[in-house]
Amino acid sequence: MHDIIQQLEKKRAQARLGGGEKRIAAQHAKGKLTARERLEVLLDEGSFEEWDMFVEHRCNDFGMADQKIPGDGVVTGHGYINGRLVFVFSQDFTVFGGSLSEAHAQKICKILDTATKVGAPVIGINDSGGARIQEGVASLGGYAEVFQRNVTASGVVPQISLIMGPSAGGAVYSPALTDFIFMVKDSSYMFVTGPEVVKTVTHEEVTAEDLGGAITHTTRSGVADLAFDNDVEALLMVRRFFNYLPSSNRERAPLREAGDPPNRDDYSLDTLVPENPNKPYDMKELVEKIVDDAEFFELQPDFAKNIIIGFARMDGQVVGIVANQPLVLAGCLDIKSSTKAARFVRFCDAFSIPVITFVDVPGFMPGTAQEYGGIIKHGAKLLYAYAECTVPKVTVITRKAYGGAYDVMASKHLRGDVNFAWPNAEIAVMGAKGAVEIIFREEKSDPEKLAAREAEYKQKFANPFIASSRGYVDDVIMPHGTRRRICRALTLLRDKKIDEPWRKHGNIPL
Ligand code: HXC
Repeated sequence: MHDIIQQLEKKRAQARLGGGEKRIAAQHAKGKLTARERLEVLLDEGSFEEWDMFVEHRCNDFGMADQKIPGDGVVTGHGYINGRLVFVFSQDFTVFGGSLSEAHAQKICKILDTATKVGAPVIGINDSGGARIQEGVASLGGYAEVFQRNVTASGVVPQISLIMGPSAGGAVYSPALTDFIFMVKDSSYMFVTGPEVVKTVTHEEVTAEDLGGAITHTTRSGVADLAFDNDVEALLMVRRFFNYLPSSNRERAPLREAGDPPNRDDYSLDTLVPENPNKPYDMKELVEKIVDDAEFFELQPDFAKNIIIGFARMDGQVVGIVANQPLVLAGCLDIKSSTKAARFVRFCDAFSIPVITFVDVPGFMPGTAQEYGGIIKHGAKLLYAYAECTVPKVTVITRKAYGGAYDVMASKHLRGDVNFAWPNAEIAVMGAKGAVEIIFREEKSDPEKLAAREAEYKQKFANPFIASSRGYVDDVIMPHGTRRRICRALTLLRDKKIDEPWRKHGNIPL
């Protein structure tokens, strides 16, 4: 017995040392924490329970039979974040570069299977050289097993990926299948093919950072949600972010005792939107004035800035916020903003998080770049996402709601539950100038007449009254009372239920 315990301790110590002191020092020299150190920061103190510490690879080729490290390059298990259960895996770059063997994949699969079964989120920390080259197809099979489980778990439990080192080749697709991706600046990158292959195939010269670093993916591609300065910052932010998520689709996101009264009025909102409809204002400021304690956890803040998405609380209840941003492209909807918001709305819908939509949108972005890029299909994604969404939907039109974009942005017609408009709202097919130039084309040569027509059109349509006379908005409200009205709407919608006709699944325009 004594021998066995000694052996066990030896194996444990060996597993904890991963690829050894030298490789750990190399990891630290790159400004990176080790797989275990990361879990210590991420999880509540002392809560981590490790599984499969003694799993080893089964490869005997290329001298691998003599190189077995208990755990095989990934630390897996479960723990707690602010007292709530979470399943985790953390790839250990010091062991074969964190590469994925068949055994390594099986460990991750066990985590995903169990999390799905018990209904708890999964956080994966990725730091890996990709498929374990010595294992060949066994490792490719391992990846596919992980992918399948990511998809099975999608919409059942929240999945978060942290990219804290390389994530290359097919390895990018497991994070891509998860709900949120957080990256670390300068030490993480994601690409399907690396700079060398790019150079050979397309003759482009590009650094790993430019091709797939955190800045690239949070500003240009939109693959990642947020970029952080270092490992510790990223892990601590995930702990904060975790508080907005329910444990599974069977539960609601945690309620927090609100210090901010639900009936708080904010009179500065009455003057926040400029009288001149062509003047922009900061929608983020507007959102922060309305939500609990001005706390807004924004996602993708540097990608498709013409739309804002993120989580906040209203009277302690977690809500998803979607808002047009008039400061960027006048808040127009385009390809990137439509897909950004659509995916977010679908996450909220899958996990019973009410969606609050603030609308100030002059329409869809015109132009060949948008049409050739498929704005029809991409814009339809947002339309589809809002239309299929059955969680409580509260909409506030703060200024413009024009054209198809009026329909798309959680309008009454897409089963918006409670739709408000501010008194200065303009709800019409298009702006007055464009409208009269079409309707009164023959009067184009007479600027005076045209100006009169424009004034007439504005007078008739640039207000919320026609929409409200038809019941398309439930009430025209004073901006200062918006928080109170939204909180009340959420209370009445708490037990909302919609029955849908049976189908296997819809066919969102991908
Ligand atoms: C086995 C690997 C490995 C891998 C790295 N290592 N990647 N071992 N399989 N895929 C080992 C190295 O041999 C080295 O071992 C240690 O990890 C650290 O690697 P270094 O190269 O010294 O580190 P660094 O200079 O930081 O470079 C990291 C790297 C590089 C950029 C990730 O290692 C690299 O290019 N690796 C190969 C990447 C790759 O082509 N992967 C396959 C992609 S295809 P020692 O013993 O010296 O410490 C793929 C298909 C998946 O993933 C498809 C799924 C559908």
